Amino acid sequence: MITFRDLRTQADVVEWTAGLQTRYPERIQVMQHIIAQLKALPFPAPQVVELGPGPGLLAELLLRDLPHISYTGLDSSSLLLTYARGQLAAFGRRARLIQVDLNGEAWLAQLPAEIHAIISLQALHDLGDESHIVRIYGLARRLLVPGGLLLNADFVVPPGQDNPEQPGRRSIPRHLELLQGHGFERVACSLEIGQFACLLGFAPALVP
Ligand SMILES: C[S@@+](CC[C@H](N)C(=O)[O-])C[C@H]1O[C@@H](n2cnc3c(N)ncnc32)[C@H](O)[C@@H]1O
Repeated sequence: MITFRDLRTQADVVEWTAGLQTRYPERIQVMQHIIAQLKALPFPAPQVVELGPGPGLLAELLLRDLPHISYTGLDSSSLLLTYARGQLAAFGRRARLIQVDLNGEAWLAQLPAEIHAIISLQALHDLGDESHIVRIYGLARRLLVPGGLLLNADFVVPPGQDNPEQPGRRSIPRHLELLQGHGFERVACSLEIGQFACLLGFAPALVP
């Protein structure tokens, strides 16, 4: 079985991407759940930013199902972005893919002026340890418009079962604590399925 670290060619990407759904069949439900959360947003033309879209599987579904959104995907892998660009070509200017290191600063200057949702699927655990997730949550809180949604769908571990070899996998209560610590409102685990949890929060709305 080919792993993410083995990717060298577009043929590898095709094989790995096809294997994602087989390895984690629950991803279908996770993606449908993310789309439902985006659909429920009160904004007429949401700008959605995805962190670590890889081959663009989620992007393709949400651009198809939510014709009113515009999409920006940020990923460090040129191989995966090449594949994703092919998959998303039909969506024209509604879809933008940019090669960035999310652990760096440069991507912050390449974002839409207003961001209504920041989403991520199976990616933030790859950034490093908890400090990297904390940083992303803090940036998201700053970048989102009032009432904007942060939704991180990622691998989680049971509370108290941190694995030093997988420091980016945190427990659900810890994610919720981190989101609350950054001032997100309506913080919740909106779905738990298989190894995944969907952790979400909203940037505080403006008080009229
Ligand atoms: C396991 S893949 C998941 C891809 C996609 N979200 C999905 O679920 O199909 C993790 C993704 O995170 C990206 N990634 C990892 N570290 C990154 C970083 N420092 N900056 C940007 N992207 C990163 C990888 O390139 C890869 O596309």
